Amino acid sequence: MKIFIDSADLDEIKQAFEWGVADGVTTNPSLLKKAVEKRKEKGEKVDIKSYLAEILKVAKGTPVSLEVTKTDAKGMAEQGRKLFKMFNPVANNVYIKIPVNPAFKEDDKTHFDGIEAIRELSKEKIPVNCTLIFTPEQALLAAKAGAKFLSPFAGRIDDLIRTNAGGKFDKTEYYPMEGKEEKGDTLGDNGVVSGIDLVRQCVQIIEQYRFESEVLAASLRNPRQVRESALVGAHIATLPFEVIKDMLKHPKTYEGMDSFTKDIVPEYEEL
Ligand code: E4P
Repeated sequence: MKIFIDSADLDEIKQAFEWGVADGVTTNPSLLKKAVEKRKEKGEKVDIKSYLAEILKVAKGTPVSLEVTKTDAKGMAEQGRKLFKMFNPVANNVYIKIPVNPAFKEDDKTHFDGIEAIRELSKEKIPVNCTLIFTPEQALLAAKAGAKFLSPFAGRIDDLIRTNAGGKFDKTEYYPMEGKEEKGDTLGDNGVVSGIDLVRQCVQIIEQYRFESEVLAASLRNPRQVRESALVGAHIATLPFEVIKDMLKHPKTYEGMDSFTKDIVPEYEEL
């Protein structure tokens, strides 16, 4: 499974690539806002064009997703083309992120605008990462329209299932792959019982019908979700920097280090 870093923070991205653990980058408007504000708080001026170009250079040879902000088919396709033209020459690694459905509510008329924009850009050989996927059927349509990456949002579907169940929870709390039972019923949303179950169902459909798209497990909040994404066959998982760091931690590793360090014989240390 490839690991992308889900961040627009240049320092985090640099570090993940220096460690050799990153195979790509995903950004979104919220991540970019956070990264830009952090720099501004330090008194730095941010030239967004050169800032993004720097990210692309650090990630050279691996995909970097840049998200559109327009919400209609024409606007998203035009903005996608513009971003691709502006930034792809930097390191030849830009993917355009398009929401599967840019509608804000049920009675908006833009439900197919995401699919239209994906189709347009894909026909022009501009690679698309289809974002905000919450059902396997959204993934299926995005794959048909030509998206290269399909991003099911595991953490956010867990949020929804827990909210519907009326429970209080922490954003990083673990939610089991097989779902949770309450009063004899498995909690779920439209036949999806957890974020990892959503990823699993997307992978099954994509592999069963041999689509070329890759399933990119997104909105992952803890190491166990990363492991389970790998176990259900996600092609890619995009991870916040904190989750990448947490993946290495274990109390028995610290304990082992402590005892091995105490046991070093001087003759060995001096070799
Ligand atoms: C994916 O591409 C998104 O940037 C991201 O994974 C969203 O994660 P969140 O639900 O933790 O905000």
